[in-house]
Amino acid sequence: MKLFLASENAGKIRELKELLARALPDIHVMSLVDLTAEERDKYRAEETGKTYAENALIKARGLSQALGADRQDGFILSDDSGFEVEFLGGEPGVYSARFAANDAERCEKILRAVHGQPVERRRARFVACLVLLERGVNPVCFFGRKDGFISESARGRAGFGYDPIFSPLAGGKTWGELSAEEKNADSHRSRALDLVIQYLVRVVKD
Ligand code: IMP
Repeated sequence: MKLFLASENAGKIRELKELLARALPDIHVMSLVDLTAEERDKYRAEETGKTYAENALIKARGLSQALGADRQDGFILSDDSGFEVEFLGGEPGVYSARFAANDAERCEKILRAVHGQPVERRRARFVACLVLLERGVNPVCFFGRKDGFISESARGRAGFGYDPIFSPLAGGKTWGELSAEEKNADSHRSRALDLVIQYLVRVVKD
């Protein structure tokens, strides 16, 4: 089975590839970084949507168009995800990648916003929406969510994005302090991907 990931985020690609390879050993996974220069030029995916699903669909369709009619012989999978902080009314949400200039500043901005708040006001969650296209059509959407807390400070260098300030358990290790295997065992992305895998296994069997 061939699957193209509509992502150029190195952290997401690494996690999705590991999870897919573990569940479907025969799968051949490529991503935007494997496109030819010509295909790359054709890839357009402006994240203008107001929801994760809209943006994930824009990315999946963008890749489908870039690949062109001759290369629609597999699946396309896109991921739009975000970090929702309860104290900030769910922000940054769909704007998580654009909340500040880089990962360190994005984490710092959130730590400053919840500074001094007790643990029950530091609740946050990651949300992932994965969209699967088969031969460029029939988009199917899968969601995963993981709840937890904003830590007191940024800790750990593993993972990416907001991982250093998120702990599934109040006062526990952050995702930045966990190995990829520990994070992937139960994350928003692995929960959504479990549903994708169940779907693919059913589709491929039929
Ligand atoms: P997207 O590429 O528009 O979907 O942006 C998603 C953003 O949400 C990423 O750039 C990260 O900042 C954040 N994010 C999504 N998933 C994770 C995760 O597993 N760990 C840390 N940050 C994440």
